[in-house]
Order: sequence, then structure tokens, then C-alpha cells
Amino acid sequence: MNQQTRPAPVGDPVATQIHPGYLSGFGNGFETEALPGALPIGRNSPQKCPYGLYAEQISGSPFTAPRTTNERSWLYRIRPTVMHWGAFRKVDARLWLTAPAEAAEMPPAPLRWDPVPIPAEPLSFVEGIRTMTTAGDAGSQAGMGAHLYVATRSMRDEYFYNADGEMLVVPQQGALRFRTEFGVIDVAPGEIVVIPRGVKFAVEVTGGPARGYLCENYGGAFTLPERGLIGANCLANQRDFLTPVASYEDRDAPGTMLVKWGGGLWAADIAHSPLDVVAWHGNYAPYKYDLRKFSPVGPILFDHADPSIFTVLTSPSETPGTANIDFVLFSDRWLVAENTFRPPWYHLNVMSEFMGLVYGVYDAKTGGGFQPGGASLHNTLLPHGPDVDAFEKASNAELTPHKLEGTLAFMFETRFLQKVSHFAAETPALQQDYATYGRKLAKHFDPNRPEAR
Ligand SMILES: [Fe+2]
Repeated sequence: MNQQTRPAPVGDPVATQIHPGYLSGFGNGFETEALPGALPIGRNSPQKCPYGLYAEQISGSPFTAPRTTNERSWLYRIRPTVMHWGAFRKVDARLWLTAPAEAAEMPPAPLRWDPVPIPAEPLSFVEGIRTMTTAGDAGSQAGMGAHLYVATRSMRDEYFYNADGEMLVVPQQGALRFRTEFGVIDVAPGEIVVIPRGVKFAVEVTGGPARGYLCENYGGAFTLPERGLIGANCLANQRDFLTPVASYEDRDAPGTMLVKWGGGLWAADIAHSPLDVVAWHGNYAPYKYDLRKFSPVGPILFDHADPSIFTVLTSPSETPGTANIDFVLFSDRWLVAENTFRPPWYHLNVMSEFMGLVYGVYDAKTGGGFQPGGASLHNTLLPHGPDVDAFEKASNAELTPHKLEGTLAFMFETRFLQKVSHFAAETPALQQDYATYGRKLAKHFDPNRPEAR
């Protein structure tokens, strides 16, 4: 086996020192090669490619999409993908569902789950995906799946490809290595990795048993939200997104190609690693991002901005301003607003909200119950807000500048109603008392005391 890892990227040597093994930027026209001269210059499809490679284009958007959303990459590989294909057999997708999927009938109430235990049995990343909710229709390229994953073993001679959705992975426990066609990405809790649909990869468990969250995006590819009046900086900055340099495996060994396509999981026997891309260029590629580099912008005198101000990535829909998915972050920040109830307000939202917690305490739920590794669902137009502990503390707190520290919560927010899987409805991790947390709030109204309580 000739595995080339972490070769020096072409281009700026300074960038090489800052991010070894990665290229910086978001949606760039990247160029990278693991062997000198492997990347054809000035053309995409020469009559004969260097080193006897095959040229292959992967299109992440229609050929005719506008430039701002047009995504494609050219791959120069030992074998074209048609050679990594075969006679597929249907295999058990276990607890991984794809919309539209059969769902549990749930009352219109908020839901919350304890962390799902990591089992002792050997489970790969693909085998350990547990669908919590599905929304929309993958075949119509709209909606999403919100999943948890647990992984206790690395994928060896197993490779995976998802045609149904782009995968946004949020590790909560344990580091992972994604060996992808485009190169190697290492991630740990606090970071995310995004794998575009149709990109082959394998996942190694590199930091002990792993657990985290997965947003499977059936719709438009995640992109950076417009900053509008904020200007050219802050929120998620382009330079902090890292795409791997080319790295290939020249490995002839029996293996399995797993393909999720049309909502089903399929397997074919192959005789070599499909992670055989020696050089590539383009703007359709996997990337990672350290969530702690997010620069939040918020209210600095009084009151609240809507939480959309914390959007890291957005999957747009055809309706302007109405996201297929927003990936929203609640991380370390200063709270300084005067005469303001500082936690999130009580509200109802036509968008539905699936939340997770990587570490720390989420400021709207200080009474316990929302734990790292846990999850909550506040579905379409269901009322929600701070628990009684958070309300009482925040209503009576001295409003000196206060820093929220050591916290990392996030939300997968979608325009669609989220349907709850049978797994999510029936797991012992589902908290039975969460539906009525609002009833613990006290009535404070007194018609004879107009002054604030
Ligand atoms: Fe909300």
C-alpha cells in the first residue's frame, strides 16, 4: 500500500505552515496534487493524463447553475468511479432513516433526550447512525435528517458514499479521521466537518469511542450566510474553513463500497481503495471548521437580536430568506445588554429547531436536563423558552457584563416540520417530564402593581 498523507500543498508556502495538510478558504477554486505534475494545467481533460490517471468531474450543482452556486471539481484518479462500482445488494441501514420515512405519532409538545449511551459492541460510523428526525423529501432535494451517531470501530476496507444528502458532522465526544477522496480531515469535539454528497470517504475512530450529531442536508449545499449590514468580517470567516490537500491510497485489497442512494443502503464488493485521487481542483470538496473561531455579533446596549445572528452555515431554499437548514451556534460570548432579559425569550417559531450540546451549559436551560450529548426538539410553532430556573435567575440578576464561557450548543433549524423516528420516540433517553417544564413557571401578574416585579 502506498498511502500518501500530508504532502505539501502547491501554492503559498506560508499557508502550508499555518494549516499543515489543509487549504484555507470557503468555496475557493482550490488546486492540489499529491505528486508533482499530476494536475493538468490549463485544461481539464487532456488526451492522456499525467501518471496514467483518469480524469473525472463531480458536479455538485446543475451544469448551468449561476456562478455563485455552481459547484464542481475535477479529480485525477487511479481508477474512475465506475471501476469502484459493482453488483449492489441491499443491506440493513439499521437506525438510519431517510425522508420521507415512517414516523412516530407524537403530541405537539417539546421533546428532549438524555445523551444516548455508547454501546460496547463494535459499530462503525455508518452503522452507528441513529435517526432522530426527518423532514421534507430527500428525492425532491428538500429537507434534512437530524441524527446522532456513536462509533466504536474504524472503517477498514469499507468506504461510504451518500447520494441523498450533504453531511454536516458535529463531534461531541471522541476524535475522528475522515479519509476522503479529496484528502484527510481530522476533527475533534469543537470542530465540524462537511462532506458534500457523492464524495467517498471512510471514518476512523482516532480518539476513543465517539459520539456526535449529524445533519444530513437533502437541499441546497451549505454556504456562508450573507452578512448584510454587518459588513465583510465576523461570524464565520472564510479563511477559517479548511479543505484537505490531495492524498491518495494505491491499495489493492478486498473491500466494500457502501452507497446510500434513494433512501436505501447498498453494498458492492470492490478490490481496491476508491480513495485514489492523486490530484484535484475545483470548489466542490469537503471541509472542516473550528466552531471556536466563530466571531459572534450581538446586542451591545439593550434587547435581543434574533438568533439568526449566530448562523454559521445555511442551506438556502428557492424562497429568499427561508432556509432549508440553518446551522446556528450558541458559543462563548459576552452578555452586556442593559435592562434586558438576557437569555433567549419565550417564543414560537414557524421554523423547527433541533438542538444539541457539545459541552457546557446552554443559557436558556440552567435547571439541568439539557446535557452534553443530549438533544432537544422544538417543532414547528411549538412554544418554548427558558426553564423556571433560567427565568428566575435572569429576571433577578445584577446586569453587569457577564461572559458565557465554556459552552457550545447548536441548532439545526429547518423550514420543515420534523417527524420523530420510532427510535427517538421509544428510546429510554427520551425525557418524560420535559413536555410540561413550562408549567413550573409562576404567575407574577398583579393588576395593582404596574411597576416591574
Ligand atoms: Fe427557539
